[in-house]
Amino acid sequence: MDITGNAFVTGGGDGIGKASCLALAKEGAVGLLVADINLKAAEETVAEAIAVATNPGFRVEAIYLDVTSEESVKQAVAKMIESFGRIDYCIHSAGIGLRSYLPVDEASFDEMKRSLAVHVHGTFLVTSQISAAMKSQELVTVDSARPERGATRGSIVVLGSSASIFTIPHFVPYTASKHAVLAIAKTAAMESGAHNIRVNCICPNWTDTPMLRQTLGSSEEMTVETLLSTVPIKRLCTVYDIADAALFLCSPRSGYITGVAFPVDGGMALTMKT
Ligand SMILES: NC(=O)c1ccc[n+]([C@@H]2O[C@H](COP(=O)([O-])OP(=O)(O)OC[C@H]3O[C@@H](n4cnc5c(N)ncnc54)[C@H](O)[C@@H]3O)[C@@H](O)[C@H]2O)c1
Repeated sequence: MDITGNAFVTGGGDGIGKASCLALAKEGAVGLLVADINLKAAEETVAEAIAVATNPGFRVEAIYLDVTSEESVKQAVAKMIESFGRIDYCIHSAGIGLRSYLPVDEASFDEMKRSLAVHVHGTFLVTSQISAAMKSQELVTVDSARPERGATRGSIVVLGSSASIFTIPHFVPYTASKHAVLAIAKTAAMESGAHNIRVNCICPNWTDTPMLRQTLGSSEEMTVETLLSTVPIKRLCTVYDIADAALFLCSPRSGYITGVAFPVDGGMALTMKT
């Protein structure tokens, strides 16, 4: 995959973020900062990343991060620069599921505020701080054998959702937040292209993680079978499917791709209406 640089991963303690950390280590990343509100989980990811790393110079650290706090995001980004010198890839995977699944007229305002804080404020703060750090970095040639492929200062991948594109009944706090996540990624991509920074948004559907297991446990109607009724590939998405997409979007192999909503959804988009 041509993954050789330093990565900053939010939500790296579990689910998609953790799988992305392990894939980065396995594919040859040289530096990795695992950032999560659950520091103990982040430290467990560190231990597992060391076990699978392939780059002889590999270094990895964990840090506490609350993406809803500007100060916390600033500290984590500063730590990344202090420990690793530069940020080649950022995978922003910190996120939360819903506690209740209700129509708009019954949905909780507290749930809406919580989802907006983690997903929208979090994505804004991470994308903003990482973009600022990347802008001040040296340009790196993408492929010295093919100079026409240009140069890069870094790649940012944020986790949206199929709910960034489609409406999902009874998910209004999540759908509203994830639409905004995609909007932040697209805006940053437009502004950052001239600075050789790419920004993309992965849009997964139902991915088998602790978050989805919590959703499935929340009501009797929410079963794997009902979720898969709109998915042509009849299985849940795995964290490995998403980590592979994230690494592709980080790597120079996607060097001409920016500002996209990248679906990893088993074909679900074919059955949905916007
Ligand atoms: N699982 C799915 O079905 C699915 C589908 C589409 C999109 N997504 C998105 O993918 C991302 C990752 O989801 P997941 O399923 O891996 O979730 P997960 O619950 O398995 O992992 C999320 C991680 O984020 C961390 N986190 C939560 N709040 C945080 C905060 N304020 N600051 C820092 N870290 C925080 C958690 O501690 C956890 O380690 C989320 O943005 C989610 O919305 C998930």
